[in-house]
Amino acid sequence: PLIPVILAGGSGERFWPLSRKHRPKQFLALDETGRSLLQATNDRLAHLSGGAEHVMVVTGGEYRVQVLEQLPEMPVENLIVEPVARDTAPAVLYAALRVAQDAPDAVMGVFPADHRITAPDAFAAVVRRAARLAASTDCLVTLGVTPTFPATGYGYIQRGERLPGTDLPAFQVARFTEKPDAETAQAFLDDGGYSWNSGMFLWRVEAILDAFRQYQPEMYARLSGAVRQGRAPGGVRDVFPGLQKISIDYAILEKSDRVAVIPAEFGWDDLGDWNALERLLKGEGQNVSVGRHIGLDTDGAILYTTRGDDLIATIGLEDVVIVRTDEVTLVVRKDRTQDIKKVVQQLKAHP
Ligand code: GDD
Ligand code: MG
Repeated sequence: PLIPVILAGGSGERFWPLSRKHRPKQFLALDETGRSLLQATNDRLAHLSGGAEHVMVVTGGEYRVQVLEQLPEMPVENLIVEPVARDTAPAVLYAALRVAQDAPDAVMGVFPADHRITAPDAFAAVVRRAARLAASTDCLVTLGVTPTFPATGYGYIQRGERLPGTDLPAFQVARFTEKPDAETAQAFLDDGGYSWNSGMFLWRVEAILDAFRQYQPEMYARLSGAVRQGRAPGGVRDVFPGLQKISIDYAILEKSDRVAVIPAEFGWDDLGDWNALERLLKGEGQNVSVGRHIGLDTDGAILYTTRGDDLIATIGLEDVVIVRTDEVTLVVRKDRTQDIKKVVQQLKAHP
């Protein structure tokens, strides 16, 4: 069986100020459906795995209540709570260890909670295919998306040989490069032999545990020991804060030689920062606004207000993002939205 696990513990800093520490973007409804990103992810996976009772979520303690509120049909025991956020490698390892306790032979799927998918049927088909491949091999299966611009916020997957022994359209991965610099990203794009890592993974629980044993032996030893301890001293609560803060991409995927990729198109978009709103509202090159806007000589602006009656007026501006909430006004050039997290860092240091 496929056990889908949603990663929902990120802090969504690049979507500040809409996304705040206590309500990061996975809990927000950004499009017209009214479903939050987490709920939409859960809907897709529940449909695929035969019901919401099969979907698991791993998140931080501060988001526990919001997850349960947003996913009332999820059984409480499917929620895995990390004592503190240590990025996705510890989160994935913790989830894998927990899944292994009940279902050591299972295929586990890892799904981020911050994506938009516009072709759910194509998505379901490729996940089923990927789960079949994972079930019959030791591969760490990734879903690759065709890159359309030299993004520096994604992982890049270099396709190698066709995977032998399967009729599925799958490839060995020659190299996995997480978040390259701009020049390298452009070279990958020009080369044509690369996919973006969609951030979704399928593997047998035993295969990913093996990979952690091999490439992150210390993390594996500490956390597996802690999970055995349960609530006793030396358990997860005590050990988790001391684990290395590192993402699964750097910790495992860049290192393993068992990574496979299934190239697929399912209308994938990572809602990484404010520029995504333009794609969401289908207004590339024009002004897009949520709320009232009067723009004189204004081009390519992204405007967003959470306050219904607000009017934003702009004159002689190009390629800016303006966001207004009850507490914050943000004005940023479109090519600097990756730096929004630096503002959040400053705020954390001087609240
Ligand atoms: N439980 C938990 N704990 N979840 C976390 C944590 C954590 O400490 N940190 C992040 N997450 C969740 C986020 O909420 C998100 O759903 C998912 O894990 C991915 O984390 P991001 O921080 O959004 O990763 P990224 O977008 O920079 O990069 C990843 O995704 C890209 C595609 O969207 C990488 O896998 C890239 O290679 C990939 O291209
Ligand atoms: Mg992301």
